Amino acid sequence: MTTPNPVLQAEHLVKTFGTGHTAVHAVNDVSLKVIPGELVVIKGPSGSGKTTLVSMLGALLSPDSGSISIDGAKFTELNDVELAALRARKIGFIFQSFNLLEALSVEENILFPAHLSPGGTRAAQSRADALLKKLNLEHRRDASPKTLSGGEKQRVAIARALINQPQLIFADEPTGNLDSQSGQEVMMILHDVARDQGCSVVLVTHDPRVEDIADRILWLEDGALRDRKSEQHSWVKDPVCGMRVDEWTATLFAEHQGERQVFCSQRCLEKFEANPDLYLIPDTEGPGKSAL
Ligand SMILES: Nc1ncnc2c1ncn2[C@@H]1O[C@H](COP(=O)(O)OP(=O)(O)OP(=O)(O)O)[C@@H](O)[C@H]1O
Ligand SMILES: [Mg+2]
Repeated sequence: MTTPNPVLQAEHLVKTFGTGHTAVHAVNDVSLKVIPGELVVIKGPSGSGKTTLVSMLGALLSPDSGSISIDGAKFTELNDVELAALRARKIGFIFQSFNLLEALSVEENILFPAHLSPGGTRAAQSRADALLKKLNLEHRRDASPKTLSGGEKQRVAIARALINQPQLIFADEPTGNLDSQSGQEVMMILHDVARDQGCSVVLVTHDPRVEDIADRILWLEDGALRDRKSEQHSWVKDPVCGMRVDEWTATLFAEHQGERQVFCSQRCLEKFEANPDLYLIPDTEGPGKSAL
């Protein structure tokens, strides 16, 4: 069987912020390929360059050197207008903080990128209707984003990312601000998008549940991709929800009585900080370190 042509191809990407002794080598010689319909997860410690890498892959940030092409179009060979058109038609973004426009309704937010697509919003209306239905947002169609739950906001952001039927979705910690169940829903939607629509998904996340749905996991450390075997996980238990969290990639921590606790989400961290003693029931293995 032949391997399909990659939809995304990046070679020797480098990005440095600052100069001299304050320079930060955020991404340091990264090459990767993503094929159609693939769900690729990028993991790595905080500050390892994940956001910088996906920003470059999604044409939001220029690399210092290296090349990126999407569907055969090399970014450096496109002018600004062509690059903006490629971004609008072929790429969808989902961010941790949703980035919805509060002055617009749910439906208008979803349709917003269609202004830049051939056929405009008129041609996109039936796709918006289908997405509202699929993502269980029909009853919130005219609502302001302000009135939505976190999970609903992220589903609107997913619909907006999908409205122009992109070939690639980049999602940077899309479940970071969600409770466990909403986070699970978002993961499953992204999984379906890759499997059913052949849209490739590049997902940055610390959520341990993605291991079950990812086609491939890439490990970024100090701006470079590394081989890391899954058995090298250092699982610990989130003391609030009980979910396993990889201590190596976790970003949410709290110190309590000299013990470091690790959390899967902001929501769990906040619950813990409000009343730590509620969650730290002593057991023989010590708090939060139960065998998994
Ligand atoms: N605009 C910028 N100016 C200066 N330094 C930057 C800038 N953006 C990122 N950096 C630095 O580059 C490094 C990589 O940052 P990046 O945001 O890509 O990490 P990350 O892996 O996404 O981290 P996190 O998991 O915390 O989101 C960090 O040291 C960061 O401080
Ligand atoms: Mg980041």
